[in-house]
Amino acid sequence: MPQTMTLDRIRTDPNLRTLIDAANQHLAAQGFTDHGERHAGFVSRFASEILRCLDYDARDVELAAIAGYVHDIGNSISRVNHGVSGACMLFPLLLQMGMPMADVLAVVTAVGNHDEDIGVITSPITAALVIADKADASRSRVRNGTPEPGDIHDRVNFAIERNRLSVDKPRRVIYHRIEMDATSSIMEYLTIYMQRLAMCERAARFLACTFELNINGRSING
Ligand SMILES: [Fe+2]
Ligand SMILES: [Fe+2]
Repeated sequence: MPQTMTLDRIRTDPNLRTLIDAANQHLAAQGFTDHGERHAGFVSRFASEILRCLDYDARDVELAAIAGYVHDIGNSISRVNHGVSGACMLFPLLLQMGMPMADVLAVVTAVGNHDEDIGVITSPITAALVIADKADASRSRVRNGTPEPGDIHDRVNFAIERNRLSVDKPRRVIYHRIEMDATSSIMEYLTIYMQRLAMCERAARFLACTFELNINGRSING
């Protein structure tokens, strides 16, 4: 009998925990920033928070939390097309756990479309997942606490001391505020995040909002 799935059940499932760890290790070996439990937790928390703040129903809020938590497991196979591979892996796993088919589809559609290279935003859950995922840049994602010399992703992430997402519901604005130090620069941030910023703008529009990025007190895309 299908049953309502909760983030708590997802977080404690041994298969999913193993997949998140394996994905993180596969990316660590290639020099990517953290994609483990911390990133999964951040994206889960803020994807659900965005929909909660915009008064989406409890089911959408919980499914956004679930999609956010598992969105990167495809990296356990390959970074290439990891959204689609992750969605294909989740489909049987979530069904076996007793999740209703409609909820499984909502999660795999979001996961399969979260990557900026090929993702298309067709649901509020996808939109919230995209914004939460692309907003997770911070010093704590740099492995071993030190940026690798010459690695722009490490340098940008290491420079970010504060990183906040918030929703102004009356004005329909989703704010992403960053404070970064001189380890990197706004130009370097935009060099690696421009495509992701454009995807966040599309995601916000899907939610009938605008997306405003502010770095060190300056509006970047306003
Ligand atoms: Fe991803
Ligand atoms: Fe991610």
